Amino acid sequence: MARTTPTGGDAVANPAGTVRAAAGAAAGAAAAPAARGGVRLRGVTKTYGAGEAAVHALRGVDLHVEPGELVVVLGPSGSGKTTLLNVLGGIEAPDGGSAEVSGVELTGRRPRELAGFRREHIGFVFQFFNLVPTLTARENVEVMVELTGRGERREAVGLLESVGLGDRLDSFPAQLSGGQQQRVAIARALATDPDLLLADEPTGALDVATGKSVLRLLQQTNREGRGVLMVTHNAAIAQIAHRVVTMRDGRVESVEVDAAPADVAAVEW
Ligand SMILES: Nc1ncnc2c1ncn2[C@@H]1O[C@H](COP(=O)(O)OP(=O)(O)OP(=O)(O)O)[C@@H](O)[C@H]1O
Ligand SMILES: [Mg+2]
Repeated sequence: MARTTPTGGDAVANPAGTVRAAAGAAAGAAAAPAARGGVRLRGVTKTYGAGEAAVHALRGVDLHVEPGELVVVLGPSGSGKTTLLNVLGGIEAPDGGSAEVSGVELTGRRPRELAGFRREHIGFVFQFFNLVPTLTARENVEVMVELTGRGERREAVGLLESVGLGDRLDSFPAQLSGGQQQRVAIARALATDPDLLLADEPTGALDVATGKSVLRLLQQTNREGRGVLMVTHNAAIAQIAHRVVTMRDGRVESVEVDAAPADVAAVEW
């Protein structure tokens, strides 16, 4: 099926995301196997608690994602999806196995090193937005721009304009709709110029129309060459993915690859 062009007009039919991969190589990142934005997990395990109370959240996850792919992760509650995201994003170190993300091996890293990895490579978007309620939209994004030490304050405005919120810069989260808050959260995640955007149920708290506008933004972000890996309970969203990963009981149960995924506009639920 032919891919339609989104309204932005800057779509690049480039599922491999080779532009950003090449940029990563130029910056001195390790070449293959896992270039910037790529993921290579082998036998990754993560256990919470110990003894009788131990919960084996990840029981040996194998996963391979090419740079620049849009990945959708499905699976029942408790199957390990959020844990997987936390490992990929360097929020938690895996206990065992090998987890290479964006050319960086994460197993055995100390928290401080993981924080550095996160700042350099990862953007996070959560189900309930996680904005700071006492900061305006602009300030929520600026905090992240400043954290990286790379950007300029005015970049926050450009990022908010790019998500369609140029006229709500000085609004506080409580003055914004759910979809608008999620767009602020996406602008904030993009402020670090991540290779890989990780999103945990980004449309879970939104109605259908608003959820679609957020998905459109994530697809656009992906078409600009960034990897996007999104957890959802909505199987219909799998249509927009280059790779659909289904988890069960702490393992990857199946992986489906689609070289020509659908445009968000064609997805109904
Ligand atoms: N911090 C924690 N301490 C103890 N157990 C945890 C912790 N985080 C997750 N778990 C357990 O690990 C397993 C996997 O949890 P995870 O949050 O990854 O599931 P999930 O697939 O994201 O589920 P959901 O769809 O409900 O969000 C579950 O049994 C959960 O109870
Ligand atoms: Mg979860």
